[in-house]
Amino acid sequence: KSISVFAPATVANVACGFDIFGFAVANPGDQITLTASDQPGVRITDIIGDEGRLPREAERNTAGIAIQTYLQHIGRTDVGVDAVLHKQMPLGSGLGSSAASAVAGVFAINEMLGRPLPTVELLPFAMEGERLACGSAHADNVAPSLLGGFVVVRSYSPLDVIRIETPAALYCTLVHPDIEVNTKDARFILKNEVSLKNTIIQMGNVAGLIAGLMKPDYGLISRSLVDVIIEPVRAILIPEFNEAKHAALDNGALGCSISGSGPSMFALSRDADTAQQVGAAMQQAFLSVGITSEAYVSEI
Ligand code: HSE
Repeated sequence: KSISVFAPATVANVACGFDIFGFAVANPGDQITLTASDQPGVRITDIIGDEGRLPREAERNTAGIAIQTYLQHIGRTDVGVDAVLHKQMPLGSGLGSSAASAVAGVFAINEMLGRPLPTVELLPFAMEGERLACGSAHADNVAPSLLGGFVVVRSYSPLDVIRIETPAALYCTLVHPDIEVNTKDARFILKNEVSLKNTIIQMGNVAGLIAGLMKPDYGLISRSLVDVIIEPVRAILIPEFNEAKHAALDNGALGCSISGSGPSMFALSRDADTAQQVGAAMQQAFLSVGITSEAYVSEI
């Protein structure tokens, strides 16, 4: 018995919502194929597309650990599975690569066993994959990868995630410059203290973005896609960040910021043509300093 599952890439933070906002895109993403085995335990038998860089031991692999913690939780350590992971997106890209693998793994094993848990209850196991990958069990990639759409993590303890309606027409441009940023490093450089002034600005934008998405109100979405806390610190990790951001805004994007911990950048647009143009302009900004990139456009 075999099952294949695809889990999509995600844009975490969405400018103002560090660790609490994320949305799924149509592509890229990761695929996992699980095959039932008589031998109990989880084995990663092959990983395609990682150039040999990811750990093959199940307990050191984000998908492997997610499946293992799930099986322990439901009391089925008698189950045996062989997993083949097909990485279809770059590592260290800010596209939620570790999250997509963990989500694909835990979703696949739950389906294989006849769905003992509802989808939303798979979240804590996918989060274990994130803890392994970057030292923090943040949910802003795994929750949208698992549930689809735009997701708010209202609380981590207890875990409380909410799916938010988005406008019928909303497009995401993702540009991944061919450089790597390690999420652990990108979290380490953040300041632990935030001024009251910046907290007030950020809270206004968090509330404005959710209201703008739900009304919907593109002007409000655009004014709210601002991050005064995290982006100013992390932008230094991305060469030509300001140029690429201005290229997006000059070409009609509603807003533009870092995707997750970077180096990928995302922009939101009202229509597909604008989203394509925005992508080309951002790629041009990176290319002006010799950095090649990939661009993806998805409807949200
Ligand atoms: N919210 C996380 C961060 C996402 O920005 O560190 C990492 O992909």
